[in-house]
Amino acid sequence: MTGQLKLFMAPMAGITNRVFRALVREFGADYTCTEMVSVQGLIHGNRKTFSLLDLQNKEDAGIQLFGRTPGDFIKAFQIIEMKIKSQFIDINMGCPVPKIVKGGMGAALLREPRLAEKIVKTLVREVNVPVSVKIRLGWNPEEKTGGEVALRCQDAGASWITVHGRTRDQFYSGNADWNEIAAIQEKLEIPVVANGDVFSARDALALSQKTACRMIMVGRGALGNPWIFRQIRTLENGEKTSIPGKEEIMEVLKKHINGLICLRGSEKRAVREMRKHLGWYIKGLPGAREVRKDLVRIEKARDVQELLAAFLSKSEKGKNEAEDQT
Ligand SMILES: Cc1cc2nc3c(=O)[nH]c(=O)nc-3n(C[C@H](O)[C@H](O)[C@H](O)COP(=O)(O)O)c2cc1C
Repeated sequence: MTGQLKLFMAPMAGITNRVFRALVREFGADYTCTEMVSVQGLIHGNRKTFSLLDLQNKEDAGIQLFGRTPGDFIKAFQIIEMKIKSQFIDINMGCPVPKIVKGGMGAALLREPRLAEKIVKTLVREVNVPVSVKIRLGWNPEEKTGGEVALRCQDAGASWITVHGRTRDQFYSGNADWNEIAAIQEKLEIPVVANGDVFSARDALALSQKTACRMIMVGRGALGNPWIFRQIRTLENGEKTSIPGKEEIMEVLKKHINGLICLRGSEKRAVREMRKHLGWYIKGLPGAREVRKDLVRIEKARDVQELLAAFLSKSEKGKNEAEDQT
């Protein structure tokens, strides 16, 4: 594949709602996705699960599903189809959380390559949008089944495979192994989306170079830093990257908080949700650590904006130093 890199925002529970997706798309993310949505929750009409299907009219975004039984994925898709049109369906085979893997879902499917294949085959047969899969390298260093699962999913008709370069037992510790992502990409004919530890534009280009993947996914690196996609594009075009000025950062924050107020229908709820984002927006700026504890007391959208504005005024120096690291 040639041409520009395709940039993916990683699906992230509690983060990638439609407000966040719109933000990163504005900064150049080509593909976005809901957080993982339970097929069982959809089948049983769970209200909270349904609230995760928050695609706006004509929004181009994928939906990520987690589950175990092939038939349940079909039922869930039929339920989704009655409500909205998703750009693609992604199947979660990487979630390491005990509650999920105990139910044989998420990363547990890496231990059952045949079942993983069957889920994809069944979905591909029944749905009219691309089906993709998100995996890790395997369960642990002794069980690196990621390559086998990826091949089987390819044969079952998956359109692409995202590989997070860690095993399940690593959770988020250690470094993502980009060599292992490269090894899986080499085995496949369909594209691999390389994922793990992209925290700067330089990281993104290095990951692409190391793995020969033209599709790159960014997760934690976009938290409080949605402009990372623009920086990647800038660097890819051979230009010097910069971080946004104070005014633009404030504008982004305002959009973020106002969007959340609309989405949640309550300023209080939106601000509570925004606290963690604010922590990420100010991360690394001088004095950020000391005010972290004050964030939990913020109740008003105005206070969120004031706190960030105060920080940004203090931190012109910090920002300029950060510039060179992108
Ligand atoms: C808070 C959080 C929530 C996540 N939620 C999901 C999820 O819903 N579905 C999924 O496939 N991966 C999820 N992930 C994993 C990310 O998509 C990504 O694979 C991982 O963070 C590695 O990429 P990064 O190093 O760029 O962050 C989550 C990660 C974090 C930190």
